[in-house]
Amino acid sequence: MQFIEWVDGKLRVLDQTRLPLEEVCLELCTWQEVALAIREMKVRGAPMIGIAAAYAIVLGVQAVEATSRADFLTTLEDIAGAVASTRPTAVNLFQAVRRMRMAAQREEDIAQIKAALITEARSIQADEEEATRRISLLGARLIDDGSTILTHCNAGALATGGHYGTALGMIKAAREQGRNIRVLATETRPLLQGARLTTWELLRDNIPVTLITDSMAGYYMKKRDIDCVVVGADRIAANGDVANKIGTYTLAVLASENSIPFYVAAPSTSVDLSISSGQEIPIEFRSPDEVTHVQGVRIAPEGVEAASPAFDVTPHDYVSAIITEKGIVRSPYAEGLSALRC
Ligand code: MRU
Repeated sequence: MQFIEWVDGKLRVLDQTRLPLEEVCLELCTWQEVALAIREMKVRGAPMIGIAAAYAIVLGVQAVEATSRADFLTTLEDIAGAVASTRPTAVNLFQAVRRMRMAAQREEDIAQIKAALITEARSIQADEEEATRRISLLGARLIDDGSTILTHCNAGALATGGHYGTALGMIKAAREQGRNIRVLATETRPLLQGARLTTWELLRDNIPVTLITDSMAGYYMKKRDIDCVVVGADRIAANGDVANKIGTYTLAVLASENSIPFYVAAPSTSVDLSISSGQEIPIEFRSPDEVTHVQGVRIAPEGVEAASPAFDVTPHDYVSAIITEKGIVRSPYAEGLSALRC
């Protein structure tokens, strides 16, 4: 099953909000439907958001009947701006939108632009999938036989397309290479991407996984039951600071305290060399309802104040290595990341 697919002029995605209880495919026919699916996290994960955004732009321009190239490009700009405003943290979204804009600018007439945009969206998808395959193979080298790996949120194929994913890709590749490994997956409150998605993905690949609550991570690290932590990223600043799902920073501090390697696996499209440190990364705040409710069921008293930052920033000092498709980068990150020319 492909988790994202362009079929007969429509975007077909697996609705990640329904997993693991139901496997429901959505056929998205307009850019507004795709934008809503990104906002509501039916489609999620940094590279996957970028891919979906590219196809949203394709869907948006198909229906446009402009009389001039300039009018057409203005409408394209409006759609691209709206698609880019769906979620603020994952930089892959903005990279994909930029690539689509550039592909349009290169063409002379409207028909050519429409055709070029389909080609570009397909190539954004292919590039992300190839990047994750390379990350998986490179990163697998860091995982020893007999390891127990802690991962947070979902950085698997659901978040990237293709077969591997980033953090889960390293784990899947190590397993394919015959290593005996075990995963501890944090449930990842508030939206439970670990409990719902990571466990689902690993079980499908027959990789042993144990689900724990976020608050149990320190217990297992202290007991020396965890050999390394591997997570994905939504944006990596030029100095190596990493924005990822809320709770990642806590895990990185715990890993450091217990001398456990903390690895970040991400495609170069998640690296943002335009910002010097993680302080500049915009952090998405989502509805407090996501904290007061679990899967739509209220668990906190009516009227209580709640907050829901969706991401946090892990300072680069806590990161043992960043695994990209272009190579494994270690401290000093500023030099290593700029050498990748992202
Ligand atoms: O809010 P989400 O579920 O889109 O957040 C996803 C994450 O934080 C992932 O770890 C990150 O996007 C990497 S996906 C390969």
